[in-house]
Amino acid sequence: MKNILCIGAGYVGGPTMAMIASKCPGMAVTVVDVNEVRIKAWLSGKPPIFEPGLETLVKKSLGKNLFFSADVAGSIEKADIIFVSVNTPTKTFGHGAGRAADLQYWEKTARIILANAKTDKIVVEKCTLPVRTASAMERILHSGPGSVHFEVLSNPEFLSEGTAVQDLESPDRVLIGGSNTAEGQAAVKMLVDIYAHWVPRDRIITTNVWSSELSKLAANAMLAQRVSSINSLSALCEVTEADIGEVARAIGMDSRIGAKFLSAGIGFGGSCFKKDILNLVYLCEHYGLHQVAEYWKQVVVINDYQQERFVNSILRSMFNTVAGKRIAILGFAFKADTGDTRESPAIAVCRRLVEERAEVVVTDPEALDNARHDLADLVGKVTFEPDPYKAAKGAHALVVLTEWKCYETLDYACVFKSMAQPAFLFDGRRKLDHDKLVKIGFNVHVIGQSSMIRK
Ligand code: UDX
Ligand code: ADP
Repeated sequence: MKNILCIGAGYVGGPTMAMIASKCPGMAVTVVDVNEVRIKAWLSGKPPIFEPGLETLVKKSLGKNLFFSADVAGSIEKADIIFVSVNTPTKTFGHGAGRAADLQYWEKTARIILANAKTDKIVVEKCTLPVRTASAMERILHSGPGSVHFEVLSNPEFLSEGTAVQDLESPDRVLIGGSNTAEGQAAVKMLVDIYAHWVPRDRIITTNVWSSELSKLAANAMLAQRVSSINSLSALCEVTEADIGEVARAIGMDSRIGAKFLSAGIGFGGSCFKKDILNLVYLCEHYGLHQVAEYWKQVVVINDYQQERFVNSILRSMFNTVAGKRIAILGFAFKADTGDTRESPAIAVCRRLVEERAEVVVTDPEALDNARHDLADLVGKVTFEPDPYKAAKGAHALVVLTEWKCYETLDYACVFKSMAQPAFLFDGRRKLDHDKLVKIGFNVHVIGQSSMIRK
């Protein structure tokens, strides 16, 4: 039986290890984290993160071949393979602040592995890291006095939140980067064989370590670039009477372009896109590739611009003032089907509305705890209400920021009657039935198309 250890029980480590345990019943999978509250939640069978299908997946293997523990040091020696899935946020201090990855958690992990390993280990980078981090990890791991050999592989995770279980079950590809030595290739083969329990072998690709590390940054940068491209065009649609939905459909039918990731909206959020682009920008600058850095920076610039533009359109439409007006925010998560609010556009939008002295009320089916935490400094200026009908009561405007299905089926006629008049609706996700809303009486403003105003 192989013993697998994963350090970091977050959005990536938890679901990935639950899938490996479920697909490889002959292997023992242990997930450790310094955060005891998180570990307790995983152990209870009710994961600390909301992800459709995850609870069932975890319960299938929990206590059989899937274990959770807060004893990081004590779990290292018995593992054959150690996945590292700790957080690598953008640095907030010192050199590279606001751009470079903060590698302190990652480096601590390397050192704790070194201090506790007495036999050879394969160490797998699962978290997104700057290119060439694997070789830095290898240097730290081999800096000890012992003769233990560590083989470092890069195996970035491409799962999306909200669809993590299905992405893990049926990935487009699994990417494994390893060194070209005999030990490196043996380690790559061992990891390939684990994934081959359920992923077709032609979808498991192997590369050198640096290609693998860069591919993760490149994939996220190109996905984010598509979102910024369509969002930039949405601004043009709003002033030309073109409709971004129609434009996206027309260009997406070109098989070279493809239809996915062309939904215009309030901008991308999540823990990866911004962080990875900034990381790419920092790397390019480090290597003197200033034009390349500038090119990718624009993806983030357009994303910020989209959020600012949206708030400005709220202000303009509501007679240039929202001071004292109740504004109900429908959805705070960075996308539907997750409670995650990291880098959610809702954070910036709410902050701007509070600056304009609006009375903001936030509703969301899964993200209210995180929202409270994100806006903790605005106490008294923002309220949180799980029931969307109560949030909307007395509001001057509804602002849709997350594409939760439940907001498509609200009884908007009833909502309209409970609101201050004239009632406004700003759709930052383009998922509602706008004609119906106009018929009910709303003034409707949708990202990427002309406003639908009641005369
Ligand atoms: C992303 C990558 O998709 C995934 O491969 C990687 O492992 C982690 O980063 P995630 O951040 O979970 O996944 O969600 P994703 O579905 O990519 O959405 C990111 C953001 O872009 C969300 O805020 C989403 O609302 C926004 N988005 C996405 C759009 O605004 N329009 C689109 O067409 C697609
Ligand atoms: P991701 O979305 O990349 O999974 P998360 O923040 O959800 O990121 O998860 C990363 C986890 O790693 C957190 O639960 C954090 O407590 C954990 N972690 C950070 N540093 C260490 C460490 N040195 N040892 C063990 N766990 C760690």
